[in-house]
Amino acid sequence: MTTIPTTAQASTAAPTPASRRRTFAIISHPDAGKTTLTEKLLLFGGAIQLAGEVKAKQGRRQTSSDWMAIERSRGISVVTSVMTFEYGDCVFNLLDTPGHEDFSEDTYRTLTAVDSAVMVIDAAKGIEARTRKLFEVCRLRDIPTVTFINKMDREARDPFDLLDEIEKTLAIDTTPMTWPIGSGRDFAGTYDIARSQVRRLDRDDEPTKVNGPEAGLFDELLPKGAGEWRDQVELAIGGCKPFDLTSYREGHLTPVFWGSALRNFGVRDLIDALIAFAPPPRAQVAEGRTVTADEKNMSGFVFKIQANMDPNHRDRIAFLRVCSGKLTRGMKARLVRTGKPMPLNAPQFFFAKDRQLAEEAYAGDIVGIPNHGTLRIGDTLTEGEDIVFKGVPSFAPEQLRRVKLKDAMKAKKLREALQQMGEEGVVQLFVPNDGSPAIVGVVGALQLDVLKERLASEYSLPVDFDPCQFQVCRWITSADEQKLDSFIADHGSSMARDLDGAPVYMASSAFSLRYEEERAPGIVFSDIKDYQ
Ligand code: G4P
Repeated sequence: MTTIPTTAQASTAAPTPASRRRTFAIISHPDAGKTTLTEKLLLFGGAIQLAGEVKAKQGRRQTSSDWMAIERSRGISVVTSVMTFEYGDCVFNLLDTPGHEDFSEDTYRTLTAVDSAVMVIDAAKGIEARTRKLFEVCRLRDIPTVTFINKMDREARDPFDLLDEIEKTLAIDTTPMTWPIGSGRDFAGTYDIARSQVRRLDRDDEPTKVNGPEAGLFDELLPKGAGEWRDQVELAIGGCKPFDLTSYREGHLTPVFWGSALRNFGVRDLIDALIAFAPPPRAQVAEGRTVTADEKNMSGFVFKIQANMDPNHRDRIAFLRVCSGKLTRGMKARLVRTGKPMPLNAPQFFFAKDRQLAEEAYAGDIVGIPNHGTLRIGDTLTEGEDIVFKGVPSFAPEQLRRVKLKDAMKAKKLREALQQMGEEGVVQLFVPNDGSPAIVGVVGALQLDVLKERLASEYSLPVDFDPCQFQVCRWITSADEQKLDSFIADHGSSMARDLDGAPVYMASSAFSLRYEEERAPGIVFSDIKDYQ
């Protein structure tokens, strides 16, 4: 039988500001109900007054992410934002991830800043492509995941079928924490297996304690007959793995809840589970050592830069994940990359629509730091010794283009603008060793549209893109420095440097890349790189 640890059991130490933090993201396939669920979670926290503020009906997503014409016209959420709310004893930081797959790089980086995830699955559709992809990223980082099977008020697949699919396609154990009582039109609520209590869809009050699945209440809730349902629950109790906090925290097991975000049903169970099980801020690996959340000195890393979040303030915000200590407004941190002091005069918290000055923030919190280009993705800010956090990745682009400037007189301005866009992570920038014009790289074509639009609107630089003779590129490293140097020298016209000056080998095709790889033992070609 499943036993549910309380928060106190999950952590016996007295609560600290850091231990009260739950920093998480929702991963899902478009349309599974992420926006609706976000809205309901925020309602619990009182962060918004009215449901519907996260996604306005007509304009679809007139949120803080509503910052570019391109986004509105395509009806997709391009940017990543963060929402903070309090519920129970906890402060939740919910990081939104863009829904469009062209922005997967951005999403991946966002997932480096969370401690746990909620996976939302459409009960009729099961695991869909994007959920699987995002889950793989969570697995790479062993991010503990709670599953919410949504839309139970619509026709749904058999619960065992869904659990089986999660286990098989994601290779993770499942523990149903609740069990749905009917589905579609007959959806009547959920049965909490460990506590033996019923939450009813038609009553927004405390759950009803019952004497196990045999209770007469189920005959009432399932007028078509409760026999089969009782068998299912017995099977679930006997056949499913019991909940194990350690397995969940290590990313091997996902507790499963059922509900309907639209009806605001099952959401309370989900949020209670996050309070009880989801990990507080984790220790963060840095070069040379691991930094724990309870260390006294403030440290944090930038995982995202966003420009023009608010059309009324044409500013640039760096999103900093605080990893340790306490960030106080006005404090002087140090930017490790340059060694220069960085006063934090206006750090900000984000709510559904608003931002507010952050007087203080703790490990797990995400604060926005307005700046004019000083901060880059992957930067570390610290109060104590120099620390360089690892793990904010950059992915080898899938498309490479040369930027064609319509007005040749503006070449210098373009170089500066591209440098900025590269630092913001809008595109990747590669400067060829042979002095030819810079090459931009993107994971998805939509990034090129964003670049074009921003160069035109922010820098008055109308541009087009020319195909590039290169199709793929890889960062190269070697344990043998001489070997690396001679490879670079021998491949002069195929070599470039990225923003950090790291050597990048450019190839005209996947075939020629393989050919070079085979001919260059001792050189490591990688398609993923940590920001320095
Ligand atoms: P997303 O962010 O994951 O893309 O999904 P979103 O919340 O926008 O939900 C997608 C559609 O599914 C919406 O309907 C939403 O109302 C509906 N939905 C979400 N949760 C539930 C649920 O629990 N039950 C039911 N029946 N529907 C749900 P839409 O028609 O596309 O948009 P709208 O006009 O309702 O806003």
